[in-house]
Amino acid sequence: MNTPDRRLSVAPMMDWTDSLDRRFLRLVTRRTLLYTEMVTAQALIHGNVESLLGYDPVEQPLALQLGGGDPEMLAKAVRIANGRGFAEINLNVGCPSDRVSAGRFGACLMTEPELVAECVAAMQGATDLPVTVKHRIGVDDTDSYADLVRFVETVSAAGCRTFVVHARKAWLSGLSPKENREVPPLRHDVVHRLKADFPHLEIVLNGGILDLDAALPHIGPTDGVMIGRGAYETPWILAAADARVFGDPTPPKTRRQVVEEIAELAAQVVAEGQPLARLTRHVIGLFHGCPGAKTWRRMLGEDARQPEWNGPKAPELVRRAAAQVPADCLDERPAA
Ligand SMILES: Cc1cc2nc3c(=O)[nH]c(=O)nc-3n(C[C@H](O)[C@H](O)[C@H](O)COP(=O)(O)O)c2cc1C
Repeated sequence: MNTPDRRLSVAPMMDWTDSLDRRFLRLVTRRTLLYTEMVTAQALIHGNVESLLGYDPVEQPLALQLGGGDPEMLAKAVRIANGRGFAEINLNVGCPSDRVSAGRFGACLMTEPELVAECVAAMQGATDLPVTVKHRIGVDDTDSYADLVRFVETVSAAGCRTFVVHARKAWLSGLSPKENREVPPLRHDVVHRLKADFPHLEIVLNGGILDLDAALPHIGPTDGVMIGRGAYETPWILAAADARVFGDPTPPKTRRQVVEEIAELAAQVVAEGQPLARLTRHVIGLFHGCPGAKTWRRMLGEDARQPEWNGPKAPELVRRAAAQVPADCLDERPAA
């Protein structure tokens, strides 16, 4: 079984890490493992498979995240996903939303490790791909370290070797999903302890990591780092990832090079009949912290919706927006 390199990954994020975002991220980093948005097993079984699972091969290595709590349905969903080039199938045991909890999956499954183990076993029985679990360090009152150990022990006994751990607990009532990513305190120490107690398992740390400088010290003590909001809001933090995390000798690109590739991608996207703004909304953070970033954001966030730019002139909008940024920001090469 081929297992992807998980030293660095970008987190699954609903409505954010769609195929166009991943095509953009691939212009910045070739090696970082990317995850799809969560796809529920139910949607996959009853819905349009192509629109739920379709992607461009440039996005690989790409892991598929599934949501569900019924072993048979998850196995069925895995069979549908087989043969589509995913590097891994991940089960979401971290989402605290009401809708997801009402469907009896996501973070509430942390209170039912035996059921998660059954789900993982059924999924593994349906594929040769690695099946991994993304979870929290606790949920509601099931939040002691002993509870977490019981969860990991039970699920690993079913054959799961890789756990991606969002280093905060979730409160299922009283906090919105957004608050559940901000309010419960971050406990990176708990993820380190888990790795020390389960050295034979692959333990990936997630939560609150904003750049590579913050990520690197965790790679070694744990097996890898998954970055969510930091990678989406300030994608340039990934520019040196191939070199600094994966030891790739290719020199990191400049933002000027990436802008030119975004312009080419913009042409492809409109030629595919997709609205330009569906791509450009993902790139507005590229110049975060540079002079001219606000104009870049406005042009690609708002102007991109105008019909004028949704045709052959799409690449020109991208180039014009970048022309607002000083040359030293465009040509700066991230330290490898
Ligand atoms: C907009 C948004 C959507 C998210 N959707 C998912 C999801 O579909 N599946 C999942 O496991 N986690 C989801 N998450 C949680 C992230 O994967 C990640 O665990 C969390 O944001 C903590 O990492 P960070 O501090 O690096 O952002 C989402 C987070 C955000 C901000």
